[in-house]
Amino acid sequence: MNKRMHAEHATAASIQIEPFRSDHIQPALDLWRQCSGIALSEMDTPENLHRYLARNPDLSHVACNCYGHLVGAALCGHDGRRGYLHHLAVDSDHRRMGIGRRLIHHCAVALQNIGIPKCHLFVIDDNHAGKRFWQRIGWQVRADLRIVSRWIGFNVNPSVR
Ligand SMILES: CC(C)(COP(=O)(O)OP(=O)(O)OC[C@H]1O[C@@H](n2cnc3c(N)ncnc32)[C@H](O)[C@@H]1OP(=O)(O)O)[C@@H](O)C(=O)NCCC(=O)NCCS
Repeated sequence: MNKRMHAEHATAASIQIEPFRSDHIQPALDLWRQCSGIALSEMDTPENLHRYLARNPDLSHVACNCYGHLVGAALCGHDGRRGYLHHLAVDSDHRRMGIGRRLIHHCAVALQNIGIPKCHLFVIDDNHAGKRFWQRIGWQVRADLRIVSRWIGFNVNPSVR
């Protein structure tokens, strides 16, 4: 059975939300690469994602179907004050089933459980569908902030965001 046939048989109840483990990194990268609205950077290597998960234990989550295949993923971390979400994506054949909402709920509860009361995320400005999703699930798209960035490392490559 291929991925689309799995999706046709999937029900919301058959999708499990689980903590993001190291063995989810490669399938998550495969998903993120297929999704417009997700901007992977040169830092999104398997090694760096492994490090991210180790630095932020039990905060990031994946969604898996009844065959154990990853159909959604969200990275979640914190800096001691605020939480941060990155790279929320749901497989295109599994959207509008509540998986994105459930992934974010699990990440938010995990942050609350370690005393982090507020969370931020980045949305590409022309990702209008993404913004509609966040607003629909109760998040505020803020117009009062801009990201300010500068390359500070040795591998300066101004063409990469
Ligand atoms: C955004 C995304 C994660 C949503 O995942 P999803 O599993 O389809 O979302 P859900 O089914 O949990 O939807 C939750 C609510 O948002 C609504 N919603 C979802 N996508 C929407 C959209 N494009 N426009 C308007 N509302 C939307 C749903 O209707 C639902 O509302 P309801 O519960 O009141 O009916 C998914 O579309 C995706 O992977 N997009 C590409 C990657 C991306 O842009 N990620 C965000 C990066 S910031």
